[in-house]
Amino acid sequence: MGVFLLPSPAFLGALLFALSTLWLFPEFANARITRHYKFDIKLKNVTRLCHTKSIVTVNGRFPGPRIIAREGDRVVVKVVNHVQNNVTIHWHGVRQLRSGWADGPAYVTQCPIQTGQTYVYNFTIVGQRGTLLWHGHISWLRSTIYGAIVILPKRNISYPFAQPYKEVPIIFGEWWNADTEAVISQALQTGGGPNVSDAYTINGLPGPSYNCSAKDTFKLKVKPGKTYLLRLINAALNDELFFSIANHTFTVVEADAVYVKPFHTDTLLITPGQTTNILLKTKPHFPNATFLMAARPYFTGLGTFDNSSTAGILEYEPPSVPSSSTIPIKNLPLFKPTLPPLNDTSLATNFTKRFRSLANIQFPANVPQTVDKRFFFTVGLGSNPCPQNQTCQGPNGTKFAASVNNISFILPTTALLQAHFFGQSNGVYTTDFPNNPLIPFNYTGTPPNNTLVSNGTKVVQLSFNTSVELVMQDTSILGAESHPLHLHGFNFFVVGQGFGNFDSKKDPAKFNLVDPVERNTVGVPSGGWVAIRFLADNPGVWFMHCHLEVHTSWGLKMAWVVRDGKLPNQKLPPPPSDLPKC
Ligand code: C2O
Repeated sequence: MGVFLLPSPAFLGALLFALSTLWLFPEFANARITRHYKFDIKLKNVTRLCHTKSIVTVNGRFPGPRIIAREGDRVVVKVVNHVQNNVTIHWHGVRQLRSGWADGPAYVTQCPIQTGQTYVYNFTIVGQRGTLLWHGHISWLRSTIYGAIVILPKRNISYPFAQPYKEVPIIFGEWWNADTEAVISQALQTGGGPNVSDAYTINGLPGPSYNCSAKDTFKLKVKPGKTYLLRLINAALNDELFFSIANHTFTVVEADAVYVKPFHTDTLLITPGQTTNILLKTKPHFPNATFLMAARPYFTGLGTFDNSSTAGILEYEPPSVPSSSTIPIKNLPLFKPTLPPLNDTSLATNFTKRFRSLANIQFPANVPQTVDKRFFFTVGLGSNPCPQNQTCQGPNGTKFAASVNNISFILPTTALLQAHFFGQSNGVYTTDFPNNPLIPFNYTGTPPNNTLVSNGTKVVQLSFNTSVELVMQDTSILGAESHPLHLHGFNFFVVGQGFGNFDSKKDPAKFNLVDPVERNTVGVPSGGWVAIRFLADNPGVWFMHCHLEVHTSWGLKMAWVVRDGKLPNQKLPPPPSDLPKC
């Protein structure tokens, strides 16, 4: 008669060991998996500041669900549109190597997903690790459609810093009591500046400084003596933000899903579209206090803006054996951080200059050392004439506009990428976007009297593997202002920056071609310029625009068309069959 024996602990241990060593074989270490997500776009009633409104969400969540993947994984997201609005989703910062059809900006790489339609975004994450974000990319829908993308290193590959105890995404956003679609459509009608938001949020919560919001406060509960990796994301529409935690400093280790040389700071600046990973080392012992973390804007323009602050709470877990003297948490003193003045450009500049690529053997900085094509773009505000029989609320009775090289970009009614791929650009776009301003002027001096822009759908066409240097120059037209410029489809190296007008004779000598930071979004300094370099190794149509949504709406945007290379793996594959039609 058979005797059934329970496996001994030793046997189980051996079995577990055998299983775990499987992961040490390289085939398994590099096992790339496909991660499936379903995004149902639907309305949801959400209350903030005692104000309830119906917002467009992903899966009824605000902020939306987190995408988690490892470097090398394929991500497949099935988006089903159940709302009346047209929708697209952009995977901000994902390089989309030869997967431009999945990039997401409406009328640039795809027609929008209409009510009742479905589109499957399918892309692979190549050579990136860190934090990015996804967001709606049509009109102002990204005010409520956004979430984190967490890219972990490949299995069994560690961070270039000590493994943190915990990782926490912290997403900044903006809350509007009004319907943001109505806000922007009204502003474009009247030509005036759009209304500003009512609050900033941390993970969707405004925090104690706002009406009715004490209960809507993000709390980060920590243990003493541990290191936390905070994945900061600025998903706000129109505002760069300063961020600080009372009585704590942190170490910046990554920006836009690229590791950087670690540096310490107690305040940081993050523009819309940027992501920054920081290590927060908690105090060695229970501090008998709680601490606010707060964010408020950095603003350099002339218009109105939301100058409020959002805050969350950093709360230490009390010792497990409470001493008789332990004070209940709610009675502990609360420390508040001091944030810089709203227009502190010198802090902003000093902070951004500290970012450097690791530039080592494992994580080289592949800065293009030679340049095939140079471009000089002015970025800034301007105006369009007021239509007859209308009064306009923009500058001197005109309509606000914004431009790149004085061209205010008009989105076509079909997608640029489709037009390009099928050779049907006629009537959709032209390839005569100027490499330099047509009429040079003193960009940061007394502004010219004529502030009119021209309007058009013009692109720059590049051959595959062109190495590009682009200087972006802010203008003082209707006020100098910092512009966070975002390039789709590429990371670029920030090789130089300065104030005043760029000097093509003197400034290039000071470029950093050794360890410049690599990112997808960079602030063009207010009244200054920034120089970037990138290799056009990704065939497709790539949007570039200011990530202040109001400026994008006014036309501060353009597109690069990168042609196919000769080899099969240098060509953009045909579109997926479910690509939405216009
Ligand atoms: Cu995060 Cu074109 O945008």
